[in-house]
Amino acid sequence: MNYLSSIYKINPKINFNNYRYIRYYSQLGPQLPKCNFNAKNNKPKLSATDIESIHKLNLNPCLKPWYRKPVVIKQGYMQYVWDNDNKRYLDMFGGIVTTSIGHCHPKLVEETTKQLSKLWHTSSIYYNEEIHEYAKALAEKLPDSLNNIFFCNSGSEANDIAILMARLYTKSYDIISLRNAYHGDSLSTQPLCGVQSWKFPIPLHFGVHHSTNADPYSGRYGGSNCRDSIVQTTRHCECALNECNACDRYIEDFQQLFDSTLPKKICGFIAESIQGVGGVVQFPKDFLKRAYHLVRQRHGVCIADEVQTGFGRTGTHFWGFEGHGVVPDIVTMAKSIGNGFPLAAVATTSEIAKTLTEASYFNTFGGNPLASCVGLNVLKIIEDENLQNNSHKMGTKLLRDLQKLRDNYPDIVGDVRGKGLMIGVELTSDTKLRKPMIKSDFDEILENCRDMGLLIGRGGPNGNVFRVKPPMCINEEDIDFTINVLQKAFDLHKEKIVKKQ
Ligand SMILES: Cc1ncc(COP(=O)(O)O)c(C=O)c1O
Repeated sequence: MNYLSSIYKINPKINFNNYRYIRYYSQLGPQLPKCNFNAKNNKPKLSATDIESIHKLNLNPCLKPWYRKPVVIKQGYMQYVWDNDNKRYLDMFGGIVTTSIGHCHPKLVEETTKQLSKLWHTSSIYYNEEIHEYAKALAEKLPDSLNNIFFCNSGSEANDIAILMARLYTKSYDIISLRNAYHGDSLSTQPLCGVQSWKFPIPLHFGVHHSTNADPYSGRYGGSNCRDSIVQTTRHCECALNECNACDRYIEDFQQLFDSTLPKKICGFIAESIQGVGGVVQFPKDFLKRAYHLVRQRHGVCIADEVQTGFGRTGTHFWGFEGHGVVPDIVTMAKSIGNGFPLAAVATTSEIAKTLTEASYFNTFGGNPLASCVGLNVLKIIEDENLQNNSHKMGTKLLRDLQKLRDNYPDIVGDVRGKGLMIGVELTSDTKLRKPMIKSDFDEILENCRDMGLLIGRGGPNGNVFRVKPPMCINEEDIDFTINVLQKAFDLHKEKIVKKQ
């Protein structure tokens, strides 16, 4: 039973087809923070039924909405979106970790509009100012050695290029990835992924070796001091100070790949700094550093996939890898880089970058003047509005509040983890056994949050992790609202369980 149907039980005379009632009754739930933006209440061009039938007929069925009654979004402004009924939502998932500075950020709209009437596209056969200004500004954000940038259009494409360069540079083929990783859906990134639900039954590129995922919560090894987070797991831990048994065991597994299936020389290793699609999994603190060391001993290059963790999201650093104390050889980025504009990039050393000249390599749209204008202004806004610092401050508050929620709902919340505004909340049906909450229960909680005006992500191999990765401009009131909604949704879930017994 979702939130609205539970209200219906209180007063069965309510006609929920009437939107006025929905608005009135959803006001009984937590109140959304005030917002001065006025979304125009224009009549939608398409009815919900039209949208549904076009979706079924003309769009690929892999594009599945998350909600039973899909949300049709018509307007966005900073951390909020409005649906076709003019209902406002707090967007705590940012279009899958992509809306970094806020929907339709006025400054970005202004600068992009100017560029729209100046120059959109030229292609790389001519020079333009925009890509040069942007490449310089982006390189300044990276370690000095990674000053060479190739622009493209998506995260999958960025990882394709990274792997191509790594293979050409090392003249080796074998690459290590982690189970539970997600690196994209192109034909060369699919084999890197370690989440079963993303696997098609087709032959994929060989030469990818998956190591055990270093997951201190669900993995075989883990304790209560492994993660670089203010919230740790509730697992028992006997490690002394500066010791991490879990990290040692996961590195042993990693080492076993070298001792068993890998040739003496390898191409490299790719990892996210915090796994995103896999459910916001943080590795034990030294894991990446030690893994990089082993890879480099075998002449491999290390690729940091910063598609979700880059651009200040983790709060303490601009790039997630900085939090692990490593400097990669190649960094891939997308999503937050363009605040929703199709833009991505691969940064590397000039030596590795040179490999792409061994044959012709070209990308029609990558870094065109419009894309470069968007990218440059996103960078400027992150800096001008101190959004990395806001991620840190708001992320810290949110993590602390979620930790309290975990302690108050021990039968529902198994784990809270993350850094900055890259947060995971794992729901369980048996917390002691870390048994994932069943899908129908999770869906109902997600649906109830939606009814109350909160959009939030889901992920993890069992689809039972809330992914909280909002635009980095959220404030304390947004956090209080999020916590109140989750609390209400958990209460409704508990009531249902009690009634069933
Ligand atoms: C870590 C990571 N890498 C790569 C990708 C692929 O990016 P795209 O969907 O832009 O191809 C994603 C997408 O979710 C991602 O989360």
